[in-house]
Amino acid sequence: MTSGAHAAVLAQEAIEALNIQSAGIYVDCTFGRGGHSRLILEQLGKGGRLVALDRDPEAVAAGRGVNDPRFTILHCAFSSAGEALRSNGVSQVHGVLLDLGVSSPQLDDARRGFSFRYDAPLDMRMDPGQGISAAQWLATAGEADIREVIRNHGEERFAKQIAAAIVAARARGPIDTTRQLAAIVAEAVPTREPRQDPATRTFQALRIHINQELEELSVVLPQCVSLLRPGGRLVVISFHSLEDRIVKRFLRSQAQADHLPARLPVRARDLPQPCLRLIGRARRAGAAEVAANPRARSAVMRVAERTTAAMP
Ligand SMILES: C[S@@+](CC[C@H](N)C(=O)[O-])C[C@H]1O[C@@H](n2cnc3c(N)ncnc32)[C@H](O)[C@@H]1O
Repeated sequence: MTSGAHAAVLAQEAIEALNIQSAGIYVDCTFGRGGHSRLILEQLGKGGRLVALDRDPEAVAAGRGVNDPRFTILHCAFSSAGEALRSNGVSQVHGVLLDLGVSSPQLDDARRGFSFRYDAPLDMRMDPGQGISAAQWLATAGEADIREVIRNHGEERFAKQIAAAIVAARARGPIDTTRQLAAIVAEAVPTREPRQDPATRTFQALRIHINQELEELSVVLPQCVSLLRPGGRLVVISFHSLEDRIVKRFLRSQAQADHLPARLPVRARDLPQPCLRLIGRARRAGAAEVAANPRARSAVMRVAERTTAAMP
């Protein structure tokens, strides 16, 4: 479908989990380079429809190259999915896919500033037309905020030392490039984890913060539930424990009937019914996929189905 090197993770598993109806309407909230979208289109019949979203203009440009009347690509953050779909005449869908995080083309393009492997401007925005770059944020944020972001989003135990080193370095001159930041972090971190660059956790933390990734996820999940028609499937693939925790808690909370004290004179069928049903357990990529695509190692896929119950 499109060029670019992104190997779709848990691809067959995600498509099976969507349980595609030939004439259904599906939403791929994270088009990337269209690996999952291509498989959805393969399963859809002539009357089916796929709407894809991405906040990255380069992903959207790749999507515009898809020549298929059943396919539409929209440029927006998925936190606006509900509104974007409604403005395109879509109010109910048969399935939604979220394949979270960054794509390989984003990581591999030095100019995007996501990776410490290249020397490049420290940007890290998935949509460079929105918000501020990582360099701009590091130039002005308070030391305590920098520490909290690195600790909470990077699960970095040396967050305090790294934040102090960043603040000391920026007093000498701006931190504009990935290499500068990687060097500051490497000096501040006293120990080394096997096979991991000392800047890995800090770069992850900044990327999550700059793109408001956890907030985006918390906002889109309830929108997905209201978009789904009964029997429709929600499939979410996450890549780190912070995302997966949000997904797991949300799905569980929507898949549970409200708990009332046991002795109240209320029959189970009179209680508000849950609006989601969990489908299977969390799934991980198999050894063969991980061997072929190391990015798959941390992937976790969760699936739920919309019931007929109204949303609380
Ligand atoms: C892991 S890649 C998806 C890869 C895709 N499934 C494929 O097979 O090519 C994630 C994509 O989602 C996009 N993305 C991440 N967060 C987003 C958000 N909040 N709103 C819209 N797009 C987002 C990124 O720009 C990236 O292109």
